[in-house]
Amino acid sequence: MNIYNVKQVISSQPTNKVYAPKKGTVEWRSPSNIALIKYWGKRPLQVPMNPSISFTLQEATTNTCVEYEYSPDNIGMCFEYYFEKEKNAGFEARIRKFLELASPYMPILQNLKLYIHSENSFPHSSGIASSASAYSALALSLVDIEREIEGDVDPHHKFYHKASFVARLGSGSAARSIYGGVNLWGRHENIENSSDETCLHLVDGIAPVFNTYHDDILIVDPSEKKISSSKGHELMNENDYAKQRFRSAKQHVEDMMKILSSGNEHDFCLLVEKEALELHALMMVSAQGNILMKPQTLSIIEEIRSYRKETGLPVCFTLDAGANVHVLYSEKYSVEIKKLIEEKLTRYCYMGKYIKDKVGKGPIKVN
Ligand code: PMV
Repeated sequence: MNIYNVKQVISSQPTNKVYAPKKGTVEWRSPSNIALIKYWGKRPLQVPMNPSISFTLQEATTNTCVEYEYSPDNIGMCFEYYFEKEKNAGFEARIRKFLELASPYMPILQNLKLYIHSENSFPHSSGIASSASAYSALALSLVDIEREIEGDVDPHHKFYHKASFVARLGSGSAARSIYGGVNLWGRHENIENSSDETCLHLVDGIAPVFNTYHDDILIVDPSEKKISSSKGHELMNENDYAKQRFRSAKQHVEDMMKILSSGNEHDFCLLVEKEALELHALMMVSAQGNILMKPQTLSIIEEIRSYRKETGLPVCFTLDAGANVHVLYSEKYSVEIKKLIEEKLTRYCYMGKYIKDKVGKGPIKVN
């Protein structure tokens, strides 16, 4: 199904206009996610150049509360945006762009005045990207408002499916934050129901150990990303290694699916690290040769690898497009890895900081 078909399907759902409240409030809390197989490179409207797989997290969340006033007349796009109780012009411009993109799929946005209040559970300068949690929380809230006003014939499935579709229009990785656990987003010809438009929640065939995974985020650099993800995706358009990357990412998705079902944590570690390094290698060979790691990032990587070699415990790292290091390991090794982090790794962190997170159950509706 291509994107235009989805638009048609989504906006032509039969609706039950039986109850149209004039005002209301909805609130959703949605988590961030960490990619195991990375999405890097896209076409317009966040259509990914390759499929990706992620763990949805638990603690790093955005809480979004939207008050709405409904009018049967078309009043145009009308909203106010508050981040951590303050107006924020930069975020507001991005939200406007997002609402404009979402509007063809949610015509009701033209009949609503929205007051959007967003807060993150993690500090702004912690080096954690907030776009996945922010856009998924907002998308869930908007689709919920649409459901309150128009009703929905198949509330559960369609609701989350559409929320993933809408979240993707804000930030690609946000499409994967709509469900807990493990998620795949992006079309893969060998994976049934995979799609470029919405994510696929992987439930069957995931070994239980992976739902016990921890992700401790070691803060090497708390400042904002040097290169935004939009810029990073754009650099892939001119990257000499792009074709090879899209091929290897597809292969890695297939390999990861097998690993996730087998429960082989050692193979998991090797593949997750390969992916993280491939992402950084792509940035190094892009225009201007971008080095996003810091010396401390490499020191942490070396420590994790020697620890794994010495102890045989399956602990590994992954990286976003920045210097911070995500340490991944299963619950059964949590005592040992906590010791590793506190005794050997925090010395490389900014003010010794790290954030503990783990695989979570996905977004929740607040009240
Ligand atoms: O969703 P975006 O546009 O912020 O891109 C996310 C890119 C990575 O975090 C590097 C990889 C991923 O798949 O999440």
